[in-house]
Amino acid sequence: MLRTKDILDESDARVRAKNKLVTFPLNEINKKIIPEMLKHLRYSQIEKLSKKYNLRPGMGLAAPQLGINERFFVVCYEKEKGKFDDYILINPKVISYSEEMIYAGEGEGCLSVNREVEGIVPRHARITVEAYDLNGNLQRYRVREDLAIAFQHELDHLEGILFTDYIDPKNPYKNSENMREI
Ligand code: NI
Repeated sequence: MLRTKDILDESDARVRAKNKLVTFPLNEINKKIIPEMLKHLRYSQIEKLSKKYNLRPGMGLAAPQLGINERFFVVCYEKEKGKFDDYILINPKVISYSEEMIYAGEGEGCLSVNREVEGIVPRHARITVEAYDLNGNLQRYRVREDLAIAFQHELDHLEGILFTDYIDPKNPYKNSENMREI
């Protein structure tokens, strides 16, 4: 299983590197790692398992965080208590964004950022994304609210961008009055 030590810290250059398009059929490495990424995220959100394996709770993980500089990410979203939806997005492309902006009131977290970062990140309230699934079929996702934040956070990883890049330490709540808190 993918463990905490397998996830690169923000100080690792691969987290900031350029990411290549994935080619189909998927190679063996990606075929194996995608379900492991989802398992890690799911376990991390189940208290008993997160304690057992010493995992930090997380809902998204992108390939560059594992040193794979390719364009894919996964999200494991707890839609209701104990019920998870798995998302696998390969070569994602944003189709549209809402004008309305939101931010996570609790701030964002990232499994590659191992420090406390205070501040908010402006995100679109809704986005539509197209991406390929494991079999190379194009799928369309229309997501909102916390799931939209997660998708935007992971899309940023594919550009080498971290949520901390948006935060001005001198003014960590800048423009919050222009956005809706969720
Ligand atoms: Ni992250």
